[in-house]
Amino acid sequence: MSRFAYVNGRYVQHKKASVHIEDRGYQFSDGVYEVIAVFNGKLIDFDDHFSRLGRSLNELELKWPIKHKAMIVVLKQIIRKNRIIDGIIYLQITRGVAPRQHAFPEHLNSSLVITAKNLDPFEFDAAKKGINIITTPEIRWQRCDIKSISLLGNCLAKEKAIRADCYEAWFVEDDGMVTEGTSSNAWIVSKEGKLITRNISNSILNGITRLSIIKVARENDIEIIERPFSIKEAKSAKEAFISSTTSLVKPVLKIDGNFIGNGKVGKLSTKILDYYGSYLKAQSI
Ligand code: PDD
Repeated sequence: MSRFAYVNGRYVQHKKASVHIEDRGYQFSDGVYEVIAVFNGKLIDFDDHFSRLGRSLNELELKWPIKHKAMIVVLKQIIRKNRIIDGIIYLQITRGVAPRQHAFPEHLNSSLVITAKNLDPFEFDAAKKGINIITTPEIRWQRCDIKSISLLGNCLAKEKAIRADCYEAWFVEDDGMVTEGTSSNAWIVSKEGKLITRNISNSILNGITRLSIIKVARENDIEIIERPFSIKEAKSAKEAFISSTTSLVKPVLKIDGNFIGNGKVGKLSTKILDYYGSYLKAQSI
């Protein structure tokens, strides 16, 4: 079956889809993106993704390429044309095409590219097997709260994790504090059994999955503490896990080769995975 992409107003065959070589995304990473999950044909946490996209655009003074309503129509079309049941939508907006100059050119139309792909249905049981991760120095820029397409630091760190036979890498600042993963947020369950994730600041992306976990956990009377934690605390924690649109919730078994807790998937991580699974099944856009 052919795949379709949406590129600046047109639905084109995925393999023929292209943008201009002077697109500022290509030359300067001057753009932002969103990844939205599709589960059972439905867009997950659509409003939250759109408000984060609006925030990212605003922070970079980028223009919305099309109106909100039109965007919904395009997303539904892309899901339909690509026959997505379980998968993801990738949406990228750049400042547009202009002769190369560093400062923002005036009167530019933003570029909009949307692609979609089917993924194997999320295996909740397989997720409970857990993953291993490594840590890596925080080499990214100072505005990790913007979902910017400047992801070279993230790519370098993910590659390092894969080469170490691990699933993810957690960034660690000079003072030993963990920020987040290369494409996920970081969580631990402290020795005292408290669920901890880093508070929102310029140092991390405010993950939509992170926000939904906070919501479902609170609905189920699980307390969440939003504060920085160190890699030392993480390595001696009872449990750890990651969260993101593509990985949902994945319990962490080892960090840098050290077992977390008893080296098995923890009770609270399993609970969160189950609650989050029910939350997904209840979504209806
Ligand atoms: N990334 N932190 C970073 C650096 C990320 O890139 C992501 C997700 C997250 C989790 O955010 P969310 O829950 O909204 O997916 C945290 C997407 C999935 C990606 O780049 O493919």
